[in-house]
Parts: sequence; structure tokens; C-alpha cells
Amino acid sequence: MTTTLSSPIFADALAGRRVVITGAARGLGAGLARAFGEAGASVMLADRDSGVAETAAQLASDGFDAYGYRADITDEDDVAALFGQVSSQWGGLDVLVNNAGVIRINDLEETTLDEFVSVLQVNTIGAFLTTRAAVPLLRSSGRGGVVLNAASGQARQGFIYTPAYAASKFGIVGMSQSLAKELAADNIRVNCYCPGIVKTDMWQYNDAEWGKRLGDYKPGELIEEWIGGIPLKRAAEPADVANLLLFLSSDAATYITGQAVNIDGGMFMS
Ligand SMILES: NC(=O)c1ccc[n+]([C@@H]2O[C@H](COP(=O)([O-])OP(=O)(O)OC[C@H]3O[C@@H](n4cnc5c(N)ncnc54)[C@H](O)[C@@H]3O)[C@@H](O)[C@H]2O)c1
Repeated sequence: MTTTLSSPIFADALAGRRVVITGAARGLGAGLARAFGEAGASVMLADRDSGVAETAAQLASDGFDAYGYRADITDEDDVAALFGQVSSQWGGLDVLVNNAGVIRINDLEETTLDEFVSVLQVNTIGAFLTTRAAVPLLRSSGRGGVVLNAASGQARQGFIYTPAYAASKFGIVGMSQSLAKELAADNIRVNCYCPGIVKTDMWQYNDAEWGKRLGDYKPGELIEEWIGGIPLKRAAEPADVANLLLFLSSDAATYITGQAVNIDGGMFMS
């Protein structure tokens, strides 16, 4: 089944561009992969979940130039192999979307060191590893490149019971600003996107874990309460986030770097 995700204004806007998206087996990443395909890009979906092959195969059967690659972004060897494949297949890269992310919700005194570190390892350090490996390929394109990092509303304000996640998302914003300054010399732009609520597997977990700590919530009640507090009164669709990323990747955004853009229906306004 083909579902159109991106706005038609991006049709062919990224024709010929080569894009790697991490965490693309499911959820937001899978939606982003389809949207980049719709904009004419070739897309490499990377994920530690071997289901990424099936997600990519579905896109390919829908007519997109899509490939799946199993890689854990916290593993340096996996990251090297992923970008080795990109190099041999495409000879360069135009856009890296560091979308892979994890969240853990727990009381402080129940949170182990391993649990805390595992969140930083994916959300912040993983993006460092992939960006470091991608930069030579982005540089070789000759026309600059784009790095887009998944932050969150939790890069604006830490939510309760998620100190590691908040630290990781504030961290990715700081890292992106630093890299935006260093990589500007190569015309590589680095920006973050900050979604509010997107109804993915991650939010099923959030609803259950926050729900049982914050009150006597039945499944789905907490998320609906939080959505009710969003000025635009709805959760984001993957398309909402995708359209922002297509714009930031396009030639219309060549003067934007070092920014973190909220895409949350007005949940946060700074
Ligand atoms: N869903 C939301 O409401 C929301 C809000 C704000 C930010 N975000 C961010 O958006 C991104 C995508 O979130 P989602 O809701 O689609 O999550 P999700 O849990 O549905 O999907 C995350 C994907 O990342 C992959 N992944 C996790 N660790 C990995 C690793 N080490 N290496 C490779 N792949 C790995 C998973 O296998 C999965 O396919 C995350 O960075 C998340 O923090 C999501």
C-alpha cells in the first residue's frame, strides 16, 4: 500500500540526493524514509532491528530507491560498515538523519547506571559516531551536506522520570551547535528537529510508564490528556516532521544551520 506522506511542494526537491536515516525500521524513521523517497531521494534505512530489511523492501516495492542496512549506531564497527556500504554503493552522501532514539522512564532511585548510560549512548553518542563517519562522504559531494538530529520537546524542558532522555536531547542540541560551527567550513549544515508527540511505539511505552506513575490512567488516557494541552490539539503525524526535514534538506534552507526547530503544534514556543 502506498501512502503519500510529504507535501507535493517537495516533489523532486531532493532528486538525486543520497540520504541515510537511522532508526528507520519503524515509527518516525520509517515515515521519514518514505517522505524522502517521495521527494526523489535515494534512501538507506539503517536500524539495529533486522526488520529494517522488510521496511526498505516495502518502500522499494512501492517504487522508491530504498535500501535496508542492519546497524547498531552505538557500535563503531557497525557504523563503519554502514558508511562503508554507503561509500561503495553511492560514492558519497548528501543527507544524514540521526533519527534513532530510545527513552527510559523510571524513578531516580530505581535507575541503574547502565540504564542511564544506554540512553545517552544511542541518542547522543550514537549520533556522534554516525556523523563522524558520514562527514567525509558529505564533504565529497562537493555541494555541502546536511545533518539532521532528532531532539525533542525534552530538549526544551525536562519531563518527569526521564533524566537520561532529557540529558540526551539537550545534549544533542549542544553537540549540533558545536558541529554546525566546525562543519560550516565544508558547507555542511547541522540542525535539530524537536517533535512533541508522534504516536509511535515509543509513545505506547511512554503512555503506559508515565501513566502508571502520574495517576490512575487507563491505556491511552495520559497521551490524550497531553494532546489536549497542545495548542493545535493534535499529535504530530510523521508527515508533519517529514515536511520540516525535507525543507531543511532542500536548497531553500541553505542559510539555516545550528538550529533546533520545534515541530510540536505549539507545545513549546522557545
Ligand atoms: N514519538 C515521539 O513522540 C517523539 C517525540 C520527540 C522525539 N522523538 C524522537 O524521534 C526519534 C524516533 O522516535 P520514534 O517515536 O519513531 O521511536 P520508535 O521507538 O518507534 O523507533 C525508534 C527506532 O530506532 C531504532 N533504534 C533504537 N536504538 C538503535 C540503535 N542503537 N541503533 C540503530 N537503531 C536503533 C529502533 O530499533 C526503532 O526502529 C527518536 O530519536 C525519538 O527520541 C520522538
